[in-house]
Amino acid sequence: MAILLASTDFWEDMEVWSSGLQEAMPEMDVRVYPDEGDVNDIEYAVVWKHPRGILTRYPNLKAILSLGAGVDHVISDPELPDGLPIVRLVDKKLTHEMILHSLHWVLHFHSDQYLYRIQQQSREWIQQSSVQSEDRTIGIMGLGNIGKAIGDSLINLDFKVIGWGASPKSSLGEIEYYYGQEQLSGFLSQTDILINVLPLTENTKNILTKSELSYLPKGSFIINIGRGGIINENDLLFILDTGHIAAAALDVFAEEPLPENNSLWEHPSVYVTPHIAGQSNPSSAAKTIAENIRLVEKGQDPYPIYSLNSGY
Ligand code: GLV
Repeated sequence: MAILLASTDFWEDMEVWSSGLQEAMPEMDVRVYPDEGDVNDIEYAVVWKHPRGILTRYPNLKAILSLGAGVDHVISDPELPDGLPIVRLVDKKLTHEMILHSLHWVLHFHSDQYLYRIQQQSREWIQQSSVQSEDRTIGIMGLGNIGKAIGDSLINLDFKVIGWGASPKSSLGEIEYYYGQEQLSGFLSQTDILINVLPLTENTKNILTKSELSYLPKGSFIINIGRGGIINENDLLFILDTGHIAAAALDVFAEEPLPENNSLWEHPSVYVTPHIAGQSNPSSAAKTIAENIRLVEKGQDPYPIYSLNSGY
C-alpha cells in the first residue's frame, strides 16, 4: 500500500512532509511525485496544487486528501478520477495560525498602527483617539471551523463579531449571523473590519465587487485570508483609491504568486503577504491525514469530505 505526495508548491518542504506522513503511517510506503514507483500500489494521494492530470494515473486510488484547508486546488484539475472522496484538512494548528494572523491585522487597524507608521515617516506626533473594542464590529465572511474560531477569539477580546455565510447556521454563540445574498448588504453595512475566510466556489467567486464593497462603512478595513478570487481586485483598487476603504491586508490573490505588475503591490493602503496566513503544520497535519486514511481503510467516512453541492 502506498501514498503519493504531490505538489507543485511545497518543494522545499517535501522531505518534511514525507517523513511526517511516514512517521504517522509506518504501515504505508510514502512516495513523492514524480517518484511514484508502480502506479498500481498507490491508494491515497495527498496533494497541494498537484500537477494537473496526474491523478488519473492510479487505478487503485481510494481517496484524495488535501494538504491545506481548501480544495479548490484539487477540483480545478479538469482530469480528476470520478467518484473518489476529496478530503479537506481541518487541523487545530492551521486554525490557530489563522487566528493569530487575523488578530495581528485586526489590532493593526483597530489600534491605528497603520496611521502611526505613516505619521512616523513625516515625524508627526498626533495621538489618535482610541476606539473601545466593544465599539468595533468585526464581520467575518465564512463561518466554518476557521471563521468561527477567529470570531470566538475576537469575542474574548470584547470585539463585536458578526458573520455571513451562504446558508443558515446555528450554534454560533454570540456571533450574530447573516446569510444569503439578500442579507449581505445588511451585514456589510455594519462591518468596520471585514475578515474573509470563505472558500472559493462557483457561488463565492467575485462575490465582493464595487457595489458590495461600497456597503462597507467609510473608513473600514479588509483582511482577506480566504481566497483571492472572492474579492474583485480591480474594484478593490478603485474603492481604495476613493478612500472609502482605509486599508486592506491581503494574503490571497486571484493569481498567485501575485504578478509583479499587479498594482496591489504598490498601493499605499495595501499590505501584501504571500499566502502564509494558515500554513499547514507537517507534524500535526500528517496525524490528521493518517487518521482519515485509517477511517477509509475501516470502511468509514473521512472528515470533512468535499461536497459537490456546497462547492467546498
Ligand atoms: C490554504 O490556503 C489552505 O487552503 O490551507
